[in-house]
Amino acid sequence: MAKIKSKIHYLCSDCGDEFPKWHGQCPSCKEWGTLSEFKVTGKRSSLRSKALIQNSRSLTEVLAGNPGERFNTGMSEVDRVLGGGLLSGSLILLGGNPGVGKSTLALQLGNGDLKILYVTAEESEDQVAIRAKRLGIQSDQLHLSGENEIHAIESHISTVNPQLVVVDSIQTIYNEELDSIAGSISQIRECGQQLLSISKQKNVAILIIGHVTKEGTIAGPKMLEHMVDTVLYLEGDDRHDHRILRSVKNRFGPTHEVGIFQMEPDGLSEVSNPSELFLAERSENIPGTSIFPSLEGTRPILVEVQALVSNANYGTPQRNVNGFDYKRLSMLLAVLEKRMKTPMGSKDVFVNLVGGLRVDDPAADLSILCSVASSSRDQSIPDGMIIIGEVGLAGEIRSVGQIDKRLQEASALGFTHAIIPNGNYNEKTKKIKITLHPAKTVQNVFGIIF
Ligand code: TYD
Ligand code: MG
Repeated sequence: MAKIKSKIHYLCSDCGDEFPKWHGQCPSCKEWGTLSEFKVTGKRSSLRSKALIQNSRSLTEVLAGNPGERFNTGMSEVDRVLGGGLLSGSLILLGGNPGVGKSTLALQLGNGDLKILYVTAEESEDQVAIRAKRLGIQSDQLHLSGENEIHAIESHISTVNPQLVVVDSIQTIYNEELDSIAGSISQIRECGQQLLSISKQKNVAILIIGHVTKEGTIAGPKMLEHMVDTVLYLEGDDRHDHRILRSVKNRFGPTHEVGIFQMEPDGLSEVSNPSELFLAERSENIPGTSIFPSLEGTRPILVEVQALVSNANYGTPQRNVNGFDYKRLSMLLAVLEKRMKTPMGSKDVFVNLVGGLRVDDPAADLSILCSVASSSRDQSIPDGMIIIGEVGLAGEIRSVGQIDKRLQEASALGFTHAIIPNGNYNEKTKKIKITLHPAKTVQNVFGIIF
């Protein structure tokens, strides 16, 4: 019997590059400890050469295939995050923790008019069908397949000819021509590459589902991020019912756009006014809270920032922050101590953005600083007020982007006063129906609110 020649290669789990020798540090992406072994068999090269034989086409021929067509998914939040609907021929990666609702979301796309092939390598077809029934999906346009071998999946795609293929999940499909098991880095890379070529050749949109590890990176599939057109994350935690769909990479639309959903017994429902959701249980007139109009992609969302400052009775003071950068909080505390003479060295400080939202925007600085000061002084911030501004090391308030959208959202929700950076005080902002308090420094701001 002819022996298949196999040799050992090494693959980087971060960038997906392949090396004939082991390295402690990946020579391509410079990450440490990401290389792992896999066997290359003779069969694999024949696979490669097959993929290469593809004729070139003229521009007219390419355009005749109607590239760039967008379909509505039937869920407007998803369409918005995708940049105006699902683009034919695009490859999308949907990441998220196990149990967050990725399969549910993907299945609910079956509620629209799209013809979908749902490849469910993770659950049985029956399980998925039961769930689909529960979600109220009655579409004949939804096809289920329990297949988990990539070539078989490809032929299913040819037979069904869908507009969208959902692969649930990349960690459970494999290529029989490789030695390694499903979920290994080499399988994920190979299957990812094949899905990429299928999506481009057949002009079909493919949504790949990938599980994320606790550290927040997609285990193994992280390297797929370079390959795919769009990377979406579904975020949320057990304590909250809402889920946030975020686009972190999009070749065909804006990034940092978010869609907000609520997990209910009959699936994910879209939240059209997220500010109301995040402010639903707002505590008024309590020291330590303030409202910040955050901007997620193009959409403003008002969030409540809570802080609690107490004496550190147990040695080293604790700093605990949810939803904001820890280092940035330390900087704000230093500004508070140095510029406002508020001693922080012997205090425990807890900061929480209510509702599990994560904000990377420096425009949240001032709201966080004011919440901390408010708790520390035990003086509440006036009701109906929002606070926006980036805080510099000298205690100066720096202007922020897209202030009018933030102010309009606040005004629409009945807020009457806004502390804004002086640099943002202009004819345009003055027209918005909210009383503005422009401020140049933290001292100015404290003069207004305390
Ligand atoms: P699932 O979509 O299976 O998560 P993932 O594919 O990301 O692992 O979602 C599982 C969770 O969602 C599970 O804890 C139950 C909950 N859920 C609902 O609350 N309502 C529903 O209608 C469905 C289908 C799931
Ligand atoms: Mg799932």
